[in-house]
Amino acid sequence: NTHFNGQSFLKEIDFTPAELTYLIDFGLHLKMLKAQHLPHPYLQGKNIALLFEKTSTRTRSAFTVAANDLGAHPEFLGKNDIQLGKKESVSDTAKVLGSMFDGIEFRGFAQATVETLAKDSGVPVWNGLTDKWHPTQMIADFMTLKAHFGHLQGLTLTYVGDGRNNMANSLLVTSAMLGVNIHIGAPTGLQPAADVVALAQTYAQQSGSDILITADPQVAVAGADALYTDVWVSMGEQVDYGERIKQLLPFQINADLVAATGQPETIVMHCLPAFHDHQTVTGAALGQKYQLDAIEITDEVFNSPQAVVFEEAGNRLPAIKAIMAATLGDLFIPDSLF
Ligand code: CP
Ligand code: NVA
Repeated sequence: NTHFNGQSFLKEIDFTPAELTYLIDFGLHLKMLKAQHLPHPYLQGKNIALLFEKTSTRTRSAFTVAANDLGAHPEFLGKNDIQLGKKESVSDTAKVLGSMFDGIEFRGFAQATVETLAKDSGVPVWNGLTDKWHPTQMIADFMTLKAHFGHLQGLTLTYVGDGRNNMANSLLVTSAMLGVNIHIGAPTGLQPAADVVALAQTYAQQSGSDILITADPQVAVAGADALYTDVWVSMGEQVDYGERIKQLLPFQINADLVAATGQPETIVMHCLPAFHDHQTVTGAALGQKYQLDAIEITDEVFNSPQAVVFEEAGNRLPAIKAIMAATLGDLFIPDSLF
């Protein structure tokens, strides 16, 4: 029996903490293999569909290169290339793609779409980001944390910014699963939804992780081993930028907020893409333009040695390889390990 075989990777809570840990460690192993130029063709002869309803740099690149490194053929199917959602249902698309491809990546809006693709395609489906979760990013980010600190249990991760987006949801739940204390600093209107908090609390009781959700940025960052932020407006969100900026400016990662951790060695994380230098953003409502020197993170902090943002980005490749190889590679992973 080979554990994970044929499974989809749709959201973190479909797996146990031990399974997520296996994928993190497998990702670190695959990173080492690539660094040593050792071949790892676990998906020889397989065909992989890459479906994108939203734009992407890292996820698209990582899935493409990962498929090639694993010996598979990736095929990009963008939102203007296929019938999905316009002339054909998700379910019918799933059946067609599943009859030709061995695995399917999906990035888009609704979590329900990726779940339907998995249910009706009959092949492993991997979530490359939805409005609700960003699970491949979690494998990469917890690889980054583990490589940096040598362990995960007992670390404190603080996320500041939009507490209701995919990244906040995924970091909250994954940290709680893996025994990482998770602090969310966000204004009351942008704090995590009750269902996500309830899920995280259930896991935290098992793992010993502490959860803190606060509207006070100083309280949120105190004692943080890692400070994390994300864009203030996510792809597909129809909100007024001016309003968001007003709400979130106190949560910007700048030198003062880094100092407020009280941890000189704290690392700074961001899933990217980031607005860290001079930007003009346009408000959705009235079309006003806002000019800022930086939005969610200052250039100074982004470029400081404490920032590990490009290591995170680089780790998307081995993370995605681990997920694809484990679920489609016919590896020897005994059930008894879990
Ligand atoms: N972090 C991330 O998912 O980046 P892309 O949107 O560029 O894929
Ligand atoms: N929250 C961001 C993450 C991008 C990787 C978005 O959904 O746009």
